[in-house]
Amino acid sequence: MSIGRDNWGSRLAFILAASGSAIGLGNIWRFPTVAARNGGGAFVQVYLLFVILLGFIVMVGEITLGRRTQRNPVGVFRELAPRSLWVAVGFLGVAAGWGILSYYSVVAGWTLSYVFTTAGGTFSSGISAENIDLIFLGTIASPARAIFWHFIFILLTVGVVMGGVKQGIERWSKILMPMLFILLVLLVVRSMTLENASIGLKKYLSADWSKVTGSTLIAALGQAFFSLSLGMGTMITYGSYMHRNENIVRSAGWVCFSDTLIAVLAGLAIFPALYSMPGVEPEVGAKLIFIVLPGLFSKIPFGTLFGTGFFLLLSVAALTSSISLLEVPVAYFVDERRWPRRRAAVVSGLIAFVLGIFSALSLGAVDGLSGILKIGPRTLGFLDLMDLTFGQFSLTLGALLIALFIGWKWGARALVDELSHQESGGRLSGFIAFQIRYVCPLVLIALLLYLILNPNAFA
Ligand code: TRP
Repeated sequence: MSIGRDNWGSRLAFILAASGSAIGLGNIWRFPTVAARNGGGAFVQVYLLFVILLGFIVMVGEITLGRRTQRNPVGVFRELAPRSLWVAVGFLGVAAGWGILSYYSVVAGWTLSYVFTTAGGTFSSGISAENIDLIFLGTIASPARAIFWHFIFILLTVGVVMGGVKQGIERWSKILMPMLFILLVLLVVRSMTLENASIGLKKYLSADWSKVTGSTLIAALGQAFFSLSLGMGTMITYGSYMHRNENIVRSAGWVCFSDTLIAVLAGLAIFPALYSMPGVEPEVGAKLIFIVLPGLFSKIPFGTLFGTGFFLLLSVAALTSSISLLEVPVAYFVDERRWPRRRAAVVSGLIAFVLGIFSALSLGAVDGLSGILKIGPRTLGFLDLMDLTFGQFSLTLGALLIALFIGWKWGARALVDELSHQESGGRLSGFIAFQIRYVCPLVLIALLLYLILNPNAFA
């Protein structure tokens, strides 16, 4: 164990910080959209199954690797499989941290800018649908605005991470996570008491199995990994700051539960709101949040207040996630290269910022970046390509390699051993070992093959 390494202050601190990582744009913006596109209730049920059978298992595996070695994702493999190629999995994670953060921060930047747009009363009654459209276009297509807000968001992220584990990440998660939960519950209540709330609710809760296909399964699994922050060593890193005697299985259970709860609540807040506006279909993607909801806020009493609250909530959720993305490269530089934390945070943040400029400019500002690749009916810009490469492919591959490493190289025995350090003696560890050895690799290989053979499933 390296000397002087930071630790979480308590078990609750780990759960809050790890939930903070998991809960983000993925839950509040992506989950409702993907659910709507894939048949509502049926998708939600498939998603729940994947969280329990695969997500929870990989999360336990990642946390265990981190806590066992008390090191970053690269250090884990250097210690448990010295001088082998496995270390590449760690570097893949570090690269994915930069890759995901670079575009995540662009979308989070729009969110942040909408806090101010909304608070200024822009969406108060009387604004036309066209003007709402124009405001969104102005936000994403103006090079200066997009880069400015992306920069501010990276700056906030670097600021928290520079503070370290206890003084930075833990302190902020403890304030921000409960705040987020309260804001979301308020929004759910407001949304459910809207005039036509029952129409949206029915869409969300009733299962339309006819819409479930191979791509639905892929969407559900991809969403589960992204939402639970798995596949790139975030949970390895957060687990490495955990104390020896803590119960990993129970903590992972709480994180999965709260992440799923927030996603489901976000759906409850958004679906009724969506269908209370006649003629709007939820297939609208990014617009769902930045165009449809402002339209709603402009029509309800206290819309400015609720709107500001909503975008604040989304920014907060995004911040506790982005710090966990940055923490992976930072932990690498601090542990393996002995860099001071400040320098590691600033340099890593700078890399993500520069890389993110291309994403920030890919939504209308620079033509060459807006339409790089055509898959099926969709034209992908730079931001979409980054999401595809790092947010989906690299995570799935990473999760597969981590499961294979634990199940077959490090050994399911070692996993069970490490889990038995805790109070309840690792009750589920037999089941977990079996899943990680057989079920996870098989499902993930099948999925990757399917993706390679049907690239259209992405679209
Ligand atoms: N889980 C976060 C979300 O839902 C995003 C995120 C943070 C993430 N850290 C991650 C995704 C690590 C994948 C891997 O928005």
